[in-house]
Amino acid sequence: PGLERRVNVLLKEYHSLKTKSAEGFRHVFSRSNSDGSISSDEGIFEKPEPLSSSKAAMEKIMRRRSMQLYTEQKAWQDSTIEGQKMLEFRKGLPAYKEKDAILNSISKNQVVVISGETGCGKTTQIPQFILESEIESVRGASCSIVCTQPRRISAISVSERVATERGEQLGESVGYKVRLEGVKGRDTRLLFCTTGILLRRLLVDRNLKGVTHVIVDEIHERGINEDFLLIVLKDILPRRPELRLILMSATLDAELFSSYFGGAPVIHIPGFTYPVQAHFLENILEMTGYRLTPHNQIDDYGLEKTWRMNKQISRKRKSQIASAVEDSLRVAEFKEYSRETQESLSCWNPDCLGFNLIEHLLCNICENEKPGAVLVFMTGWEDISSLKDKLQLHPTLGDTDRVLLLACHGSMATLDQKLIFQKPEGEVRKIVLATNIAETSITIDDVVFVIDCGKAKESSYDALNNTPCLLPSWISKASAQQRRGRAGRVQPGECFHLYPRCVFDAFADYQLPEILRTPLQSLCLQIKSLKLGSITDFLSRALQSPESLAVQNAIEYLKIIGALDENINLTVLGQYLAKLPVEPKLGKMLILGSIFNCLDPVLTIVAGLSVRDPFLAPVDKKDQAEAAKAQFSRSYSDHLALVRAYEGWKTAEIDLAEYRYCWKNFLSAQSMKSIDSLRGEFYSLLRETGLVDSNTNIHNVWSYDENLLRAVICYGLYPGICSIVHNEKSFSLKSMEDGQVNLYSNSVNARASKIPYPWLVFNEKIKVNSVFLRDSTAISDSALLLFGGSISRGDIDGHLKMLGGYLEFFMEPTTADMYQSSRRELEELIQNK
Ligand code: CDP
Ligand code: MG
Repeated sequence: PGLERRVNVLLKEYHSLKTKSAEGFRHVFSRSNSDGSISSDEGIFEKPEPLSSSKAAMEKIMRRRSMQLYTEQKAWQDSTIEGQKMLEFRKGLPAYKEKDAILNSISKNQVVVISGETGCGKTTQIPQFILESEIESVRGASCSIVCTQPRRISAISVSERVATERGEQLGESVGYKVRLEGVKGRDTRLLFCTTGILLRRLLVDRNLKGVTHVIVDEIHERGINEDFLLIVLKDILPRRPELRLILMSATLDAELFSSYFGGAPVIHIPGFTYPVQAHFLENILEMTGYRLTPHNQIDDYGLEKTWRMNKQISRKRKSQIASAVEDSLRVAEFKEYSRETQESLSCWNPDCLGFNLIEHLLCNICENEKPGAVLVFMTGWEDISSLKDKLQLHPTLGDTDRVLLLACHGSMATLDQKLIFQKPEGEVRKIVLATNIAETSITIDDVVFVIDCGKAKESSYDALNNTPCLLPSWISKASAQQRRGRAGRVQPGECFHLYPRCVFDAFADYQLPEILRTPLQSLCLQIKSLKLGSITDFLSRALQSPESLAVQNAIEYLKIIGALDENINLTVLGQYLAKLPVEPKLGKMLILGSIFNCLDPVLTIVAGLSVRDPFLAPVDKKDQAEAAKAQFSRSYSDHLALVRAYEGWKTAEIDLAEYRYCWKNFLSAQSMKSIDSLRGEFYSLLRETGLVDSNTNIHNVWSYDENLLRAVICYGLYPGICSIVHNEKSFSLKSMEDGQVNLYSNSVNARASKIPYPWLVFNEKIKVNSVFLRDSTAISDSALLLFGGSISRGDIDGHLKMLGGYLEFFMEPTTADMYQSSRRELEELIQNK
């Protein structure tokens, strides 16, 4: 009887959802062309310039305009004081001395690798050398130089800098383009863009016909996009013999890239830096007399947050570093240090980012040290803003007459150029809190002191467990040295590493390239959407190929979620997902949210999944925090709890009471703010892709039906699903792959004694002894039936099979028999309606 009831409810809900979904899907997918591809004339891709009928005439005009700009630039440079000063500055950079050698090599070779110390002028000068020599040559009018940057913030700030160096406005000969933003004029010949933008351009310009020079910057970072781009470029080069490729790298593993491109010449720009004295934790403790105790580290703001995340690090990785730390600390190598220092070291907590110690050090530098800016390396936006909040309350460091406290990280909208790069007036001490963006991408000249927390946020992926995570992890030796070098640009400097030397010795030499440590789903989608052939073949041509298990997992996943069909071809859903530069699961929710007009809460959920959990759980106030979260929890869903919390925040914001609201409800104000701004960003993406009408107001889709929302969540999170097995007093969870699974204690569902739904979809599972689920939502049969898996193909049969498979797996044999007959009825019913 229970089952019958379940089937009846299912049918009722099914019909209501099916009508809605049929309309919605028709609405969106009817835009696809007859061959199944979506038309790409929706304005998001930059088209190559149309060929004029009188090409020669066009070129003449363009050339004249380029020449005019160039003459103006020269005049500015030669006859104004500003221009002369700038030219002097540029001539002083090490890159300038290599100008002829570089241009000469580029004219003779299709691929050139350039390496040089950070700050020597690679990014700002080399593209300009090419630009100038092209304009002076015959090709002038038609040259189009694209220089890619791994981060949007550096693309923007570099283009601004280069325009300033030329005495021009941005959008004249120099421009930039990043996702959702750009400045580019008809005379723009040098474009700085993110790697992603160039990859998307390939969709409409397969051979990069409109481009004469591609400069790939910061290749030593080995980002997944850059590795991907290199494979594509390597394929294009033979088809475009006149295309030039310039690879630029900070460190010296240039040989790797050179040999990948068949022994391309390498030009090294010799640089000069002053010596930097390195202090490790033991020296710092000895020098400053600061003492580490378990107490002052528990108290450390950085600790609680990293601690929560460190719990997720796959055990293997964590224990490697931990045992290195333990071994080294146990060795009696600190004999020559004072007893206090030795005691302190034994209390050192490697999970701690050292906020208290940083504060102490900064204070010391401000009060006792020679002038010079301080650069502090942190792991990400959240630490930076919490540290900044903390420092602002300090009597010395918060005194704006004495200290200029600045933040610098990739998620900033724009860099406050002047403040970050300029020397402050008078006696003011500049302190910049930065992520590893300041390691190589941007150079702050007047830095004399560096504080290095030893960590960086690194995405990692364990193909065996198929679980991704983005966590602060220990950096490599190369990174630590690079960070240290930042202190010696203008005079001898000092670097404070907040970890013992023995930990440094245990670091890996280089960081693993991203392609080997992240899930490959988005990459596979890109390969398919750019029609680059077989995924496996394509990836086997990479600089370092990912393991085949990781590739298989990605393809399997994309099939399950309906982005690829059985023959590994892109489905229409897959084409939409490839257009949205977010994880496929988030993309799916956004698409469905747009279709069903419940975008407002969906934007909140998707933004919430992209930032750090806004629900705080301070160790000493755990109960209060959980109780606060429980007020939002009436829907058996962590995702819906977030939607409610955000709505409350938004209301509080009107009265300027959002901080109070966060405080009262144990919410992170930072996370709420970033959710708010990410929502806007995702919304713009959807508009750009044509999924929502550009004149729909985001808040017009405010009302929504909770069950519908569960269905949308299921659509995104599937196949992350387990069944709820109720017994007398409580319930347990069972999943197909892992058997018995558990909920994290901070999930709203962990507090429930009964959940009136048969299934739970979850965002993430973490293996620590047993499997734990984070962020879950209870869903109904119909949500699973309709939105679990590959609905985009309208494959009702497949769905029934899948649902049947699930039910059979979880039910007793007798019930399964009963189910079989109900299912047959159900199938008939569905077929007839
Ligand atoms: O790319 P690379 O690290 O070799 O150096 P760059 O970014 O081209 O910077 C060369 C020099 O330009 C730096 O050392 C800074 O002195 C200066 N620069 C600046 O003053 N403001 C910027 N926004 C960028 C660079
Ligand atoms: Mg650079």
